[in-house]
Amino acid sequence: MPENDAPTFHIGSIPVFGQLILAPMDGISDPPFRWITRRLGSALSISEFINTLDYANQKHYQVSRINFRAGERPFGVQLLDNDPVRMAECAAAIYAEYQPDFFDVNLGCCTASVTSRGAGAGMMRIPEKVAQAFRELGKAVPVPLTAKLRLGWDEDNLNYREIAEIAVANGARMIALHGRTAKMAYSGKARWQPMAELKACLPVPVIGNGDVATTAQARQLLEQTGCDAAMVGRAAKANPFLFSWQDREDITPAEFYGLMRYQLEEMRPFHPISPLLPFRKFLKAYLEPYGLPTAQLRAMLTAKEESRLITLIDQVFSAQGVKDLPGAASDFRNRML
Ligand SMILES: Cc1cc2nc3c(=O)[nH]c(=O)nc-3n(C[C@H](O)[C@H](O)[C@H](O)COP(=O)(O)O)c2cc1C
Repeated sequence: MPENDAPTFHIGSIPVFGQLILAPMDGISDPPFRWITRRLGSALSISEFINTLDYANQKHYQVSRINFRAGERPFGVQLLDNDPVRMAECAAAIYAEYQPDFFDVNLGCCTASVTSRGAGAGMMRIPEKVAQAFRELGKAVPVPLTAKLRLGWDEDNLNYREIAEIAVANGARMIALHGRTAKMAYSGKARWQPMAELKACLPVPVIGNGDVATTAQARQLLEQTGCDAAMVGRAAKANPFLFSWQDREDITPAEFYGLMRYQLEEMRPFHPISPLLPFRKFLKAYLEPYGLPTAQLRAMLTAKEESRLITLIDQVFSAQGVKDLPGAASDFRNRML
């Protein structure tokens, strides 16, 4: 979808350009992947969730999630907890150190250990907690707040509208809705109609999320719901070029080769022991369309040395007809400047 010079929408006073957004994903949307998708066209970035309980206990691994480059703005830090005061204290500390552009409240995580303590989607079951969290955060930081929620706990508790209205009444300046209940987790089909409902009734931008894997689906979601943007999660892991409005089949092997070399290199500083383990999730998804023999794929997924993995990747892409591997790598690197 073409972008023009006018902002697509605003988060408070922050202009946002573009209608596709990378979804925050624990273990996926790390700083390198966020940067790649942002350079390819994602309209803004949101960190993987920061568990403010862990942050309060000085779990410093959380800090690498907040790392962002100036060019990634607007950048939001996502907070996950069940304690509004602790969330606010954490937000204030993060703001003092990193100055993100906004804070997002995670009301969608459906992991039992999270929801059982009333955090993530568990907080949607306690509307007063949601109000309190936004009130406390609003006092603690001078930047806009946003919320990412689900349809509700289960089919008998579809309270997305109530929760979205509470969040907005207490300061949220953008709402992202994942069209599933917590009970559904990631199964079944995401429902888009509730996104249209929120868009029609809320005075802030509404972002639709769930089951967008192609440019056609992104256009459908935008058309059917009127949402300001579509948020893409799992499909981004297989095709980050989606943020340039390009489907997987439109991308050449040379482009995927360049992407893989760049991403692996950029992941190194964030995974000092080895980037290979976290990179495997991407590797598998990126190579899937080539239908590689199981043994060849397994060799890559079990490679212990980065140099060995690169040799194997080179073999795959040479066989896919990429004649100038260094050229393909530098073309992609230049795109990321
Ligand atoms: C591996 C994984 C990790 C996720 N981590 C987060 C997270 O940290 N914060 C969040 O709000 N949602 C998280 N989500 C949910 C996604 O942001 C998104 O709402 C969901 O995947 C639905 O979108 P999709 O159908 O495009 O994948 C995660 C999803 C996955 C698959």
